[in-house]
Amino acid sequence: MSDFDIIIRGGTVVTSADSAQCDVGIKDGKIAALATNLGSADRVIDAEGRLVLPGGVEGHCHIEQRSAVGGVMNADDFYTGTRSAVFGGTTTVIPFAAQRKGATLRQAVEEYHECAGPKAVIDYGFHLIVTDPNEHVLNEELPALIEEGYTSFKVYMTYDALRLDDRQVLDVLACARINGGFVMVHAENHEMIKWLSDRLINKGYSEPKYHAVSHARLAESEATHRAIALSELVDVPMLIVHVSTEDAMTEIRNAQSAGLKVYGETCPQYLFLTADDLDRDGAEGAKFCCSPPPRDAASQEAIWRGLANGTFQAFTSDHAPYRFDDTGKLRAGPNPSFKEVANGVPGIELRLPLLFSEGVRKGRIDIHQFVALTSANIAKLYGLHPQKGTIAVGADADIAIWDPDLEKTINYDQHIHDDVGYTPYEGRTVTGWPIMVLSRGRVAIEDGELCVERGSGAFLPREKSSAAKPLGRLVPEMDPARNFGADILPTANK
Ligand code: URP
Ligand code: ZN
Ligand code: ZN
Repeated sequence: MSDFDIIIRGGTVVTSADSAQCDVGIKDGKIAALATNLGSADRVIDAEGRLVLPGGVEGHCHIEQRSAVGGVMNADDFYTGTRSAVFGGTTTVIPFAAQRKGATLRQAVEEYHECAGPKAVIDYGFHLIVTDPNEHVLNEELPALIEEGYTSFKVYMTYDALRLDDRQVLDVLACARINGGFVMVHAENHEMIKWLSDRLINKGYSEPKYHAVSHARLAESEATHRAIALSELVDVPMLIVHVSTEDAMTEIRNAQSAGLKVYGETCPQYLFLTADDLDRDGAEGAKFCCSPPPRDAASQEAIWRGLANGTFQAFTSDHAPYRFDDTGKLRAGPNPSFKEVANGVPGIELRLPLLFSEGVRKGRIDIHQFVALTSANIAKLYGLHPQKGTIAVGADADIAIWDPDLEKTINYDQHIHDDVGYTPYEGRTVTGWPIMVLSRGRVAIEDGELCVERGSGAFLPREKSSAAKPLGRLVPEMDPARNFGADILPTANK
């Protein structure tokens, strides 16, 4: 009998911390040994000249979800979404189970499980989206769901269908503090966006490019500042998602410098697209409408700096896929106003190749930062580490074997496996590609083919994250020793 099910032999194994020239022995879906000259296996994979990396962990993607604008259904279901992810070297996804206003969180979780269970080809968890933080949600549902492994939730400061006001955000933060949940925030100033949108539309500026005008930079930086203040008031850590501007990034950096547990996430669209992409003929610009919108070259450079200097912990796709037809971006007609366009761009498959090519190959970040930003940090933030996000004995054998020199000029029909019909990165040349991917020890991608079945991905209940633990540093107004003894601080989870 063989010592291992699989040995990956002779590659360079890289984690967020280390590199080693060694073999990886896999048994029963787990990494069982890391050493040179490992013994026998049922299958030996030659990784000479290759990089052996932890599979990516996708911490922000929308799959089989309806848009906040017009209730449009995502182009990808859990089969095509996870298929596309794994072709791009990602082995775990954490999409959202979104509460419909008037429905319970529990209903959302059940509905998304029904969608994912029979279709997902790789492992998945769910963040929750809290749109109605009523007493029942805050006192019953969220505490119970956190204990069941839905340990993170997103709140929105904009979108009529989703937004919470500041008081509601505080309620959710307080609930997170008591129960050990981790809060993600979509930070944009709702009234600024609405006011700008109304003025633009009233004056006849309705093409997709005006989406980028309506979602002003100041709307993002102001809301980011406010979200951080709310987080500090109740001493609850927070992740600001999909950061697009230097000013919002600086708000996060300043909070981190002040010692606050404020984390930052950014995405490919803020490195590789600009507002000019929305300024295309006809409705074509709608393909690039997402929120916040892509900005300009100076913002791209700033975001690269934030990835390199550690301001951002997570690089995710915010894959929010809509087809360019009447089921998606053009749901309101062939020439929709920017207010009628479902927000979001696809990117789950190219997230890693784009960052590898432009980040690692061009020397903006090193390979360990690459692993940290795309896998290890995300697993840690969301309570999946060390099961996911690393190559270590005992971890799940979720591994992407990369050819660091393989060059591809992106062509949607040839290279992309989602169900969207286009990629915003068409024609871009990338160097470095995941040529073989293993998911829990199963060969999932080989020779350009998907080798795992629909529904073979497993649900991942997640631990409470240490990132979510309060600092224990109170502002005077929340500190009974300095607020005349008022006991108003929600009791922290230990
Ligand atoms: O435009 C985007 N990002 N759409 C997806 C929803 C969200 O806010 O993340
Ligand atoms: Zn968002
Ligand atoms: Zn999103």
